[in-house]
Amino acid sequence: MSNMKQEILKLLKNDRFVSGQEMADRLEVSRTAVWKNINALKSEGYSIESVTSKGYHLTEHPRYISPTALELLVAQSGLFSHMEYLQTTGSTQVEALQKLEHHGGAYIVVAEEQTSGRGRFNREWSSPKNRGLYLSIVLRPNIPISEIIRFNLFISLAISKSIDQAFSMESGIKWPNDIYINNRKVSGFLTEVVSESSVINAIICGIGINIFEDESVGAIPNATSIEREMDGNSHMDLDGFMETLITNIERYYNRFINEPFSAIREEWKARAIVFNKELRITEAGESYMAKALDIDDDGFLEVLDQSGEIRKVISADIEL
Ligand code: BTN
Repeated sequence: MSNMKQEILKLLKNDRFVSGQEMADRLEVSRTAVWKNINALKSEGYSIESVTSKGYHLTEHPRYISPTALELLVAQSGLFSHMEYLQTTGSTQVEALQKLEHHGGAYIVVAEEQTSGRGRFNREWSSPKNRGLYLSIVLRPNIPISEIIRFNLFISLAISKSIDQAFSMESGIKWPNDIYINNRKVSGFLTEVVSESSVINAIICGIGINIFEDESVGAIPNATSIEREMDGNSHMDLDGFMETLITNIERYYNRFINEPFSAIREEWKARAIVFNKELRITEAGESYMAKALDIDDDGFLEVLDQSGEIRKVISADIEL
């Protein structure tokens, strides 16, 4: 049996009353052990009511993600074999890199807070405690390093779809690494690679999602949070969101391993927010205005610059 607290959470998530005796029988433990674990779940932020002769019932999820729910997701995952949950760290990217030799398979590092969170181009990624999701996923595909552009396209689709499915939103992908809602950035990801002679040893993909409205989100003019974009009555279930995110990451990672970009190209394009707009593109120190026309089968953006030349952009900073 996996961890008892995870098993009890799984039973409670069935959305019905479960008696202490039923739990004790099913898990082959004492009722005192059940009671202790119920209390431990309560201290993680779960509201669990207890009604005489009916049993326990989960009435509310924690406001933030819970380590037990994440451990349960990873225990059920066909891809990830390990999860590390940290209350604070400099950056989950650095933590994930340091753990490479300790864990053979794919794993996740999650932190409640980062003190040196970073984004693309070494920009700061503000990561105040329990306000956003800060995670790094480590994957170990046996593929050439040149495939990383294709990886970003699959993963961007997984993140954008998860936000929409879990929070009933319409997010879009700002090529290559950002997720936007209503023209503002809600999430960004950063893909780093550990490689040997052009073959990938590990991908460390760091994902940041602004969940709650916060001074740091408010201070950035084109940033937003899930909370700001949500209908006031909607309930924020971050356990549910993490489940959706991990499921979609698994699904799109498997597709990335087995399929070409052309298999998701139309789906990706339907979410892209860069087409038919004047964009400022900064690539390898050069900055120019251009209009994005299409994305090719290799995942390169085709743009029309102001001199009428069609260029292919591989990886760039783009301003809408
Ligand atoms: C970007 O938009 O530039 C990418 C932002 C990536 C932020 C995440 S938060 C978790 C992980 N740890 C970091 O230090 N950065 C990534």
